[in-house]
Amino acid sequence: MSIIGIVSMKGGVGKTSTTANLASAMAAKLGPGRVSVVDLDPQNALHWHFGLSDPQTLGVCEQSLLDGDWQSVTQYTEFNVACLPYGDVSEIDREGFEALLAQQPDWIGEQLQRSGLNQDAVVLIDTPPGPSVYIKQVFACVDLILVVLLADAGSYATIPAMQTWLDEAASVRPRLGMYYLLNQVDRSEPLNRDTSAFLHQQLKPRMCPIDIHGDEAVGEALAFGQPVLEYEPHGQASLDLARLATWVIDALNR
Ligand SMILES: Nc1ncnc2c1ncn2[C@@H]1O[C@H](COP(=O)(O)OP(=O)(O)OP(=O)(O)O)[C@@H](O)[C@H]1O
Ligand SMILES: [Mg+2]
Repeated sequence: MSIIGIVSMKGGVGKTSTTANLASAMAAKLGPGRVSVVDLDPQNALHWHFGLSDPQTLGVCEQSLLDGDWQSVTQYTEFNVACLPYGDVSEIDREGFEALLAQQPDWIGEQLQRSGLNQDAVVLIDTPPGPSVYIKQVFACVDLILVVLLADAGSYATIPAMQTWLDEAASVRPRLGMYYLLNQVDRSEPLNRDTSAFLHQQLKPRMCPIDIHGDEAVGEALAFGQPVLEYEPHGQASLDLARLATWVIDALNR
């Protein structure tokens, strides 16, 4: 099994969109039954990208509190991606789950190992912004980390804190793959274009060579409950995500 964590110090940079859209792009290359996504963000938004909207559905939060296996909260979507939602839970349940995660640092990795996924499964995990028990769990179990950034001053300001995260993780797990991923790149905007070039130069060799361009189809796809590759397969973001999927598959095999 290969596990990919999508993280960032900043909110609203495109973690959830990238998790969903990259998963569907990877599923298009790897075929059915290979790719799953896990929502570790109490916002519980990832499932919307796959048109799953039943608010009653159990998710990984409540299921973990019940000590049940995660297979039974897996929802099989029409986009060849299996989705494990966080679940729509009470504050008490969220706090209970976070306390459990704080006590058992390998909990998520262990749940994934016993969730019935095949050896060749690829799991992408969406996380909330900033430091949290979820991020600690993800750093403990993943094979590859993608840190999503925007080409703006706000993201730039978070880089020292993110480098600290990555350096700490690398000191514990030297073989862990870690890359920054630029999202919403707009080459027609001079500041965005220059900041993108600067970040590529500064963050090399931890910079993913493929950027995701700003593309309004990303937001529109969510409004229709579809991954962007389904909604607009030949749009700019879809082309970027297809290339990114190939690059990530290669990175996992390295
Ligand atoms: N490549 C893109 N092009 C255009 N819009 C995008 C792109 N990626 C994300 N967005 C938009 O940016 C907004 C934030 O995206 P998203 O919810 O995925 O961010 P997030 O990092 O998961 O946020 P949070 O920190 O709240 O979890 C959404 O409106 C989304 O549609
Ligand atoms: Mg999100």
